[in-house]
Amino acid sequence: MENILCIGAGYVGGPTMAVIAKHCPEYRVEVVDINAERIAAWRTDDLPIYEPGLLEVVREARGRNLFFETDVDAAIAPADIIFVSVNTPTKTFGEGAGQAADLQYWERTARQIARCSTSPKIVVEKSTLPVRTAEAMEAILHSAASEVQFDVVSNPEFLAEGTAIADLENPDRVLIGGHPTASGQRAVEAIADIYRHWVPEERILTTNLWSSELSKLTANAFLAQRISSINAVSALCECSGADVREVARAVGMDRRIGPNFLRAGVGFGGSCFRKDILNLVYLCRQYGLSEAADYWQQVVNMNDYRKRRIVRTMIGAMYNTLAGKRIAVLGFAFKPGTSDTRDTPALTICKLLLDENATLAITDPRALDNARKDLADAPRCEFTDDPYEAVQGAHALILTTGWPEYAALDYRRVHESMAHPAFLFDGCNLLDHAALAEIGFRVYPIGAPPLLPA
Ligand code: NAD
Ligand code: UGA
Repeated sequence: MENILCIGAGYVGGPTMAVIAKHCPEYRVEVVDINAERIAAWRTDDLPIYEPGLLEVVREARGRNLFFETDVDAAIAPADIIFVSVNTPTKTFGEGAGQAADLQYWERTARQIARCSTSPKIVVEKSTLPVRTAEAMEAILHSAASEVQFDVVSNPEFLAEGTAIADLENPDRVLIGGHPTASGQRAVEAIADIYRHWVPEERILTTNLWSSELSKLTANAFLAQRISSINAVSALCECSGADVREVARAVGMDRRIGPNFLRAGVGFGGSCFRKDILNLVYLCRQYGLSEAADYWQQVVNMNDYRKRRIVRTMIGAMYNTLAGKRIAVLGFAFKPGTSDTRDTPALTICKLLLDENATLAITDPRALDNARKDLADAPRCEFTDDPYEAVQGAHALILTTGWPEYAALDYRRVHESMAHPAFLFDGCNLLDHAALAEIGFRVYPIGAPPLLPA
């Protein structure tokens, strides 16, 4: 039996290892983390993250060949393959602050692996890392006093939150990068063998190490770029009478462009898009590629603009003052299907509204605990599970996360309970705007002119 270890039991480590353990019963899969609370939760049915279908997969493998532990040192020694899936946030201090990846967690892990290893290991970069990080990883691993053989492989993760299990079960591709040496290629094959248990051969892509590292940053940058592109167009639609949904549909029907990731909204959020693009910007600058850096920076700038723009629209529509007005914020997660609020557009929007001295009533079906934490120091915020309570007496409602349950609300009841005129800003273009205007709302979609009741 081969021993797989994963260091980092977060959004990536937990689900990825659960799916590997499910499909590879002959491997023993152990997941470790320095966060004891997180590990304790992985051992219960109250998992530390919410992902549809995750609990079923964990239950199938946990205790059979999937284990969650806190002793990282002890887990390293017997492992044959070590996935490193620790967090790599944006650096908040010193050189590169606000752009470069903070590699302290990753480097600590590399040193720990070097210190605790007594047998050969394949070390897999699962975290998203700057290109050529494997070089530093190898330097640290090979600086250990022992003569242990280490092979470093890049195997970035492309899952999206909310669909993690479906993405892992049926990935578009699995990318594995390794050195062209004999042992490098053996390591690549060892990782490919794991995925071959359920992923068709033609979707397992092998490349050199640097291409694999850079492909991950590039994929996220391309996805985010599409969102910023359609959001740039959405602003033009709001001024010109075009409807961004119609434009996106017409553009996306071109097979060369395709229909995905053309949904205009309040901007992209989540733990990675912003961080990974800024990392790409930083890398370009490090290599002296200032034009390339500026190009990618603009994707982030456009995203920030989209959030500011909807708040400006609200101020303009509501007679140039939000002071003392109650605004219901529907949705706080960075997208539907998750409790994650990292870099959520809702937080930026809430802060901008609070700057205008508005009072907020925030609701979300899954992310309310995180919302409370994110806004712990903010004044004038109420939190409620019940959207009908949030809208009670509100002057405006803004939809910031496109949870399907918000499309199913009784908007007549909502309208009746709000202050009038009742403003509705649909930051996700989820709702039936014509029907809402019919009810009496003053409706402001994204990327289309407002619909005002006759
Ligand atoms: P996360 O913060 O949810 O989890 C990381 C975990 O690593 C934490 O639980 C933390 O306690 C643990 N950790 C940190 N240092 C450690 C150490 N020295 N020893 C043991 N554990 C340690 O992060 P995540 O969302 O799972 O992301 C992990 C990596 O995967 C990042 O590089 C991210 O960019 C990348 N990624 C994330 C996603 C996503 O959807 N969240 C998707 C693809 C790739
Ligand atoms: C994204 C990528 O989709 C994954 O492939 C990648 O592995 C992951 O980042 C990562 O590296 O962390 P994720 O952030 O979980 O996944 O979610 P997405 O579905 O990509 O959505 C990101 C943001 O873009 C959300 O705020 C979403 O609302 C927004 N979005 C998405 C739009 O505004 N418009 C769209 O058309 C699509």
